[in-house]
Amino acid sequence: MKKLYLTTLFTFVFFAINVLAVSNKDTKMKKGILLVTFGTSYPAGNKAFQNIEDEVKNAFPNTEIRWAYTSKKIRKKLKKQGIIKDAPAMALAKMADDGFTHVAVQSLHIIPGGEYRGLTLTVFGFTKIPKSIIKLTVGKPLLYSSEDVEEMAQSMHEIFRNDLAKYDAIVFMGHGTERAANIYYPGSQYYLQTKSDKFILGTVEGFPTFANVINGIKSKNAKSILLTPFMSVAGDHAQNDMAGSEPDSWKSKIEKAGIKVTILQRGMAEYDSIVAIWIKHLKIAYDDLDKKD
Ligand code: CO
Repeated sequence: MKKLYLTTLFTFVFFAINVLAVSNKDTKMKKGILLVTFGTSYPAGNKAFQNIEDEVKNAFPNTEIRWAYTSKKIRKKLKKQGIIKDAPAMALAKMADDGFTHVAVQSLHIIPGGEYRGLTLTVFGFTKIPKSIIKLTVGKPLLYSSEDVEEMAQSMHEIFRNDLAKYDAIVFMGHGTERAANIYYPGSQYYLQTKSDKFILGTVEGFPTFANVINGIKSKNAKSILLTPFMSVAGDHAQNDMAGSEPDSWKSKIEKAGIKVTILQRGMAEYDSIVAIWIKHLKIAYDDLDKKD
């Protein structure tokens, strides 16, 4: 009788522990970070991404970090080289499958343009999927508030302090967009020029245009300039549109005007003080994971 009693007791305890363990597993919070960039197919660009990952790891040492690329063209190109990069939707589906309950998605874009809007729509779509990730938040791109733009200008001023003494002008090439968010480029130009009137910013696809850039260089009577990307990585635009040997690159056209051009192939994500702005946004998104809607 005593033996039977003990067996029953042990069986009960055994089941109770299991039930507790299972329910505990079900409700346990598993936080993750998803870093989302346009992407690059240039191996040199990976240096910028590695730097971001290192900085994010420092800020969130106990949280798993994953990546997604929004550019289908770049994902396709990398796939041919045997490198698999997920789109944000795929990365989130995998995170849901791997048991992540709360994910902070950080946009590594420069402005809240088309890529950022697409990302927010994807994330919003995921919040509607049952039995998926419980809570998702999105961190703002590099430039969102006026304070962000001011902070960026302050950082760039410190980063290029020595170059400002060496060159007659520092010319940045940004991407630009047809969307309203293009206003961040003239906005950035404004804040940069409050730091130094040697800063000139232009874009490939928006405003200010290359014509504005060349006018700016000429009006300063600049003889020697530094040309560098205003993009997260020194990728395709930086290699070709900015510094390419073709006659229609910015470098060729500025040189044709008799000005000496020095190229600096560094993406903004390679500068820690710039990455700190993205991390500031990620911290807000990460803290929001604990808030009840
Ligand atoms: Co482009």
